Amino acid sequence: MFVQFFFWLIFLLAGLAFAETSLFPLQEHAGTEDLFPMDDCSSFKLHEATIDEMQTAMGHGKLTSVQLVTCYLVRTYQTQEYINSVLQVNPDVFAIAAERDAERRQGKVRNPLHGIPFTVKDNIGSKDNLDTTAGSWALLGNIVPRDAHVVKRLREAGAVLFGKAGLSEWADMRSNDYSEGYSARGGQVRSAYNLTVNPGGSSSGGGVGVAANAIAFSLGTETDGSVINPASRNALVGIKPTVGLTSRAGVIPESEHQDSVGILARTVKDAALVLDAIYGVDERDNYTLAQVGKTPAGGYAQFLTDKAALQGAVFGLPWKSFWVYADEDQQAQLLDLIDLIKSAGATVLNGTEITDYQILVSPDGWNWDWGAVRGFPNESEYTYMKVDFYNNIKSYLAEVSNTNIRSLEDIVQYNLDNAGSEGGVPGAHPAFASGQDGFLAALATKGVRDETYWQALGFCQSKCRRGIDDALTYNRNGTKTKFAGLLVPPQVAQAPQIAAQAGYPVIAIPAGVDAESGMPFGLGIMQTAWGEAELVRWASAIEDLQRSVGYERPLPRWRGYLQRNLPVPY
Ligand SMILES: *[C@@H]1O[C@H](CO)[C@@H](O)[C@H](O)[C@H]1NC(C)=O
Ligand SMILES: *[C@@H]1O[C@H](CO)[C@@H](O)[C@H](O)[C@H]1NC(C)=O
Ligand SMILES: *[C@@H]1O[C@H](CO)[C@@H](O)[C@H](O)[C@H]1NC(C)=O
Ligand SMILES: *[C@@H]1O[C@H](CO)[C@@H](O)[C@H](O)[C@H]1NC(C)=O
Ligand SMILES: *[C@@H]1O[C@H](CO)[C@@H](O)[C@H](O)[C@H]1NC(C)=O
Repeated sequence: MFVQFFFWLIFLLAGLAFAETSLFPLQEHAGTEDLFPMDDCSSFKLHEATIDEMQTAMGHGKLTSVQLVTCYLVRTYQTQEYINSVLQVNPDVFAIAAERDAERRQGKVRNPLHGIPFTVKDNIGSKDNLDTTAGSWALLGNIVPRDAHVVKRLREAGAVLFGKAGLSEWADMRSNDYSEGYSARGGQVRSAYNLTVNPGGSSSGGGVGVAANAIAFSLGTETDGSVINPASRNALVGIKPTVGLTSRAGVIPESEHQDSVGILARTVKDAALVLDAIYGVDERDNYTLAQVGKTPAGGYAQFLTDKAALQGAVFGLPWKSFWVYADEDQQAQLLDLIDLIKSAGATVLNGTEITDYQILVSPDGWNWDWGAVRGFPNESEYTYMKVDFYNNIKSYLAEVSNTNIRSLEDIVQYNLDNAGSEGGVPGAHPAFASGQDGFLAALATKGVRDETYWQALGFCQSKCRRGIDDALTYNRNGTKTKFAGLLVPPQVAQAPQIAAQAGYPVIAIPAGVDAESGMPFGLGIMQTAWGEAELVRWASAIEDLQRSVGYERPLPRWRGYLQRNLPVPY
């Protein structure tokens, strides 16, 4: 009896293995067991629901925004102790949702986001009963002058601000050795895929919250990888727009030259709908003026397409620039996806490279002081980051009230005075091993834009722009042509890092799961400035192709859910 059962089991397992590898090559890591299953929302299946599905259900009177808020709050209560995605719940969230429901009953539906709950990273300002603190106690109780432009736009679109998402404190500007996803106010954010490792950051809470279905979508910010990294590590779609497409006004800054408000969502369409709601010119951020004449009339969602679009498309594969650094297992899984893309009729040309990639990024992973390591601080990203932060944080703080924190000097002093909670000195707090060395380095510049600053800024910006533009150009029968995009492994930090310095856009979509850690990783597409329409087009085509072979974004498996290690290893 036992022996028979044993043979039967082997047979069954072999059958399953066969089915997975042969029919659905990309599905082997898709989640099937869920330790924390999500309840339906008044008979609506909210788990993995798209924004369109929520909208349709609300349109048919089967769901209300108040119910959506209730269900996401229940989900947050269920998951918060594990993943810590939300730093603060909006005390007004029910009132706002009720207003949107009332409007809908009167026939007013503002936008595809009407009634949809979202979070924003805690460095994105909202003038309401929420705080805006970049995760630091230093800014608790401060009053911002107005909503950040992106928050204002989402409110106008009818979306419902659910709360502030956890993050790496000060978006990682403060320390060079730190626990990704940790802030003094918010604690350690943990990814539902593996709670013991780096959850992705610095937009950590948005990433893990959307991935665990604790919220519909989230806004993050990226200076150098901070949207694309959490998207990639939580099997999400992440869009980091061209610097200047989304206003940074009202956002706690790092650098005016690289900061970009981006999106974390579960599908390309969800992300495109959000992008359409938030991009645009804002008089308070003059970088947004550059988008005039560069954005498509009618927005980006019109570029959503299906796998048929891949027929005849030509992509570039910057092998030596990025792919060689991908982990073997990830590289193999991604190349399976590249083969699938080819089978849909696309051409993928190996070997187009970022001009001078060797001097632009480190061969050893993320390092924004690579220029200085090479012996040229006047060619290093960190050189102008430190100066920009010193100046930009001062401008930001000049507009907030009810706080004594007016400058970087004040923040540094606060961290010293509260070293136990804010890790003001090395070794004082496990999450901030190097104390506040990032802040001290910025402080030392006093914000002076000297010759070295301008050389470094000019070098990194122009070289990275030129590098991407060169790599996007290829010779087709003697004619210079543009690739549909560069396909990159986004978890190879050098890829988003070159786009960051260029101020160019990137999109990431779910692509696989690391066998050892259980952490997802994505496929990225890079484009030139204002290339978001292309990114939406090709990401949606590839997403549709994945679904056509049975691949869905992998679901969290809650590995290591009883562990509370701090710091999390990088
Ligand atoms: C924005 O305004 C500042 C100060 O007025 C100026 O220094 C900067 O060059 C402007 N930037 C752009 C992109 O227009
Ligand atoms: C791309 O070309 C390099 C040689 O430059 C080679 O080592 C690599 O295997 C190629 N990758 C693919 C996916 O063909
Ligand atoms: C940086 O300084 C070195 C001299 O130390 C010089 O050769 C180089 O051209 C400078 N780089 C830029 C971008 O100005
Ligand atoms: C390039 O030239 C070859 C040979 O002349 C031809 O078969 C092919 O269709 C051309 N490709 C394009 C994209 O024009
Ligand atoms: C989480 O990831 C780490 C790092 O890869 C791995 O060693 C560990 O086994 C994973 N945890 C579980 C429970 O799988």
